[in-house]
Amino acid sequence: MKNKDLRVKNHPILGKEAKREKITILVDGKKIPAYEGEPIAASLTAAGIRVFRYTSKDKEARGVFCAIGQCTDCVMTVDGVPNVRTCITLVKEGIRIKTQEGLGKWKKKE
Ligand code: FES
Repeated sequence: MKNKDLRVKNHPILGKEAKREKITILVDGKKIPAYEGEPIAASLTAAGIRVFRYTSKDKEARGVFCAIGQCTDCVMTVDGVPNVRTCITLVKEGIRIKTQEGLGKWKKKE
């Protein structure tokens, strides 16, 4: 089955989608298409990715819940930094995103 782009192209109130630059992001080492200026969570959701992290105690899957930066269910490790709220963090070309296990691990400084 072909992966359908779930982005809203023509919103009844906001109108047609603005033209944006297509970029590539890396999610768990896999290249995912994204559009400049959209939140990481939007790119992942459009790509069919629903699990963003696993809880530390029971290893339960979590993803987008509030989508306004309040609940922290969507946190992932972004460019080596854990606990980044992906619903309010914008994508950029080449950004590296990892599914987070528990509280995440900080990249050691060199
Ligand atoms: S989904 Fe709640 S903080 Fe991102």
